Amino acid sequence: MKVLVLNGPNLGLLGTREPGLYGRDTLPDIMEGLRKRAAELGLSLDWMQSDDEGELVRRIGAACGQYDGLILNPAAYTHTSVALRDALQAVPIPCVEVHLSNVHAREDFRQRSLTAGACVGQICGFGAVSYRLALEALAERLRRVADVGT
Ligand code: DQA
Repeated sequence: MKVLVLNGPNLGLLGTREPGLYGRDTLPDIMEGLRKRAAELGLSLDWMQSDDEGELVRRIGAACGQYDGLILNPAAYTHTSVALRDALQAVPIPCVEVHLSNVHAREDFRQRSLTAGACVGQICGFGAVSYRLALEALAERLRRVADVGT
């Protein structure tokens, strides 16, 4: 089974971006660790990062028929993007929303996610570990769906 991890704006700056909040790992470091965990779980994993909302929308739409599950850190678009929510609702692929920081303990405007309601769940606040927890939850979900189908 195949999983696509989508990362939104400014996540390409991880490593140097507000390290007290987001940690010192770069995005390629986090994604490499995630790819290894995916292999242990019997999943193959692709990832991408874009600062562009339209590109993220296109990649979600193009995932149809190509991927079994999605992990999405919409970054700032979490709090603003009806287009991303609609894209998630348009494809029959389970998605787990992930955040490095605990968005619920931050500014008011970060406490609302437009995208989480179109996801099977949200994991936040554990730094890079949030991605691993999201992958494990998604793997469990995919396994359950596959079991029901047999
Ligand atoms: C973030 C949280 C968002 O509020 C913020 O805009 C980001 C990163 C996180 O992973 O903690 O860019 O998605």
